[in-house]
Amino acid sequence: MRILSGIQPSGILHVGNYFGMMRPSIELQDQGEAYYFIADYHSMTSLYDADLRRDYTRRVAVDFLACGLNPERAVLFKQSDVPEHVELSWILSSVCPMGLLERCHSYKDKIANGVSASHGLFAYPVLMAADILIYDADSVPVGSDQKQHVEVTRDLAQKFNQTYGETFKLPEPRFRDGAETVLGLDGQKMSKSYNNAVEIFGEEKATRKRLMSIVMDSRTPDEPKPDAEKNLAIQLIKHIAPTEIYQDEVEKLKAGGYGYGNLKKRLFELYWEYFRDARARRDELMNNLDYVDQVLANGAAKAREIARPVNQRARRACGLD
Ligand code: TYM
Repeated sequence: MRILSGIQPSGILHVGNYFGMMRPSIELQDQGEAYYFIADYHSMTSLYDADLRRDYTRRVAVDFLACGLNPERAVLFKQSDVPEHVELSWILSSVCPMGLLERCHSYKDKIANGVSASHGLFAYPVLMAADILIYDADSVPVGSDQKQHVEVTRDLAQKFNQTYGETFKLPEPRFRDGAETVLGLDGQKMSKSYNNAVEIFGEEKATRKRLMSIVMDSRTPDEPKPDAEKNLAIQLIKHIAPTEIYQDEVEKLKAGGYGYGNLKKRLFELYWEYFRDARARRDELMNNLDYVDQVLANGAAKAREIARPVNQRARRACGLD
């Protein structure tokens, strides 16, 4: 089984990225041939600062390695080190109906949240389809916000196959069991660009402050809270704590006599503990950036070995070769 996924270096990684994509990807690295890339071409649709892109790209690599990606088992690389993605994206563009892209929610959401409308942003799902198809990927671990993009990928593969003959394999999206979108501090989807995120490797004081600032309703600590499961801090605890601890916190809120201040303190403690080992590994990696750069260079060479022949296959099928 070949597994493939990508993550944009468009900001600092947050716990939504972690639970939606990074953790499942890390778990899958032992179950097949895994290819994970830093989608720097994609980040060009929303980030217009060259130094920041370079910095975020490296930080994604460091964070992913710190969280447990094992470069002996999974290939980690930077998307733009494999420029064949872009050629295939053009090839797929030519069989992509406009209506398919017009229906994509992610484009509309991004525009609604202030990202400028550009051709790149609109055509983003075509590049994403190329990213997936160029590795003959079977399985694509992503958060549920990317489901529609994987469906577009399947549609484009079928369209190309119908037009030029069997060329591409149809991939399957893969979601973590029971996975929901991780919500941000304002109750919307946690996102790098909505200023509602909890960073994976946030600084201690700042993160404590951020979690303590989650706005809750005005019920007194004594009041029982029968709707405890809907509480935002509880929902975050559900991701970062073992089930027994989550259940215990829910019961305490339901019973009454447990204030929101204490709940948020508990949330911070659990968060801090959850990423403790990864934080220590990250400190080591930050002192060894040459190693990180070497992992990316080795990864690019391995990724290209797969991507080049698949791109060749597409070129031959449509008569470019
Ligand atoms: P990106 O960079 O926005 O997010 C990376 C991964 O994190 C998941 N994610 C979340 N999961 C749960 N809750 C959240 N709040 C949350 N926020 C983000 C996303 O679902 C994603 O899996 N288009 C992709 C990058 C990409 C890609 C690809 C992925 C480019 N080419 C090919 C797979 C295959 C994106 O913008 O992810």
